[in-house]
Amino acid sequence: MRRLGLLGFGSIAENGHLPALQSFPGMQVVAVADVSPERLARARELLPDATLYESPLELISQAEVTGVDICTPPNTHADLIVAACTRGLVDVICEKPLVLTEDEYRRVARAREDSGSRVVSVNNWMHSDLNRHVSAVLQAETIGSIRSIELQTGRPAAALGNGGWMPRWRTDLAHAGGGIILDHGWHQFYLLLGWMREPIRSVSATARTVDPRHAPVEDEATVEMQFASGTGRVELSWTSKERTNGGFIQGSDGSIAIHDDRIEVKLGAETREMPFAGRLTQSSYHPDWFQAMYRRNLLDEDRAEADRNFAEAGVLVSTIRAAYDSARAGGTPRTPSVH
Ligand SMILES: NC(=O)c1ccc[n+]([C@@H]2O[C@H](COP(=O)([O-])OP(=O)(O)OC[C@H]3O[C@@H](n4cnc5c(N)ncnc54)[C@H](O)[C@@H]3O)[C@@H](O)[C@H]2O)c1
Repeated sequence: MRRLGLLGFGSIAENGHLPALQSFPGMQVVAVADVSPERLARARELLPDATLYESPLELISQAEVTGVDICTPPNTHADLIVAACTRGLVDVICEKPLVLTEDEYRRVARAREDSGSRVVSVNNWMHSDLNRHVSAVLQAETIGSIRSIELQTGRPAAALGNGGWMPRWRTDLAHAGGGIILDHGWHQFYLLLGWMREPIRSVSATARTVDPRHAPVEDEATVEMQFASGTGRVELSWTSKERTNGGFIQGSDGSIAIHDDRIEVKLGAETREMPFAGRLTQSSYHPDWFQAMYRRNLLDEDRAEADRNFAEAGVLVSTIRAAYDSARAGGTPRTPSVH
């Protein structure tokens, strides 16, 4: 039996992580920590037997847990992962962005190495039905070798956190570490890098703040990536008219168009349409994506996927830092230090 502590009991913990964790008989949430009394009261309602803590560090040092699942804001992630590794916990799951800087990644990597903990970044979008099918089509090399991948995410505004703490933390630099590049970019970058399956050579980005409610962080960004045999492009916006997700992958022998609830695989004159039940834009919660993430990264005895996930997080944070550097330099290409 895995005995887990939830660190941060906000929107994603309550609506994404908890329902998914409770669907596994071998996992039990036995402790919760949150700085908000309102959120601890909500945890008490949903988990009457759990031990509650006002401090995540107290939970890590005192609770009888085998692992933690970190759902606090991004600026707290690195310290909590290091503390959990230092206590020798077996499983350390952490929401995205896993860490904010390459220095934080190195610190976390050292702690993970010393403890042997399984440290996993919650990269749930790759476990959506639709994205898994895109991966399968690409793995089968149905459309040949990849020439370009374009992905778009549009939202009418930055999402709000729950009302019990600081709903606007996503546009607060100290808590979020950045704007939409860190928030939505993280998901789009692991999809793109995973599908391209080549080391990234350079990144160039432009970023801006269009809606003053989002200042000081960027609410629109375009990130272009160069690979040895193709290109990538990610467009991100918190100022779009509606919620949108889409993309297009051009291969040497065909293409894949990604829509909100279906993909179209085109080979010559033939187009095969594959519809999916859940829409990508539906919400951030999707317990089925979280279930698949826990199954692959945590419950699988073979650590291969968890180890791949952790290595990928280093490339992601390095790519994101390179994108911010490039945007500051007016779009001049930058090479991520880890690739
Ligand atoms: N994977 C996804 O699809 C997805 C979707 C949404 C959010 N997230 C990520 O999940 C994390 C939380 O986001 P959210 O939307 O649930 O935000 P939220 O504001 O709803 O929840 C954050 C919670 O953390 C608590 N908190 C803040 N500082 C704390 C601290 N130092 N110690 C303990 N608790 C603390 C707050 O009281 C709050 O309850 C973020 O990293 C975010 O990027 C991921």
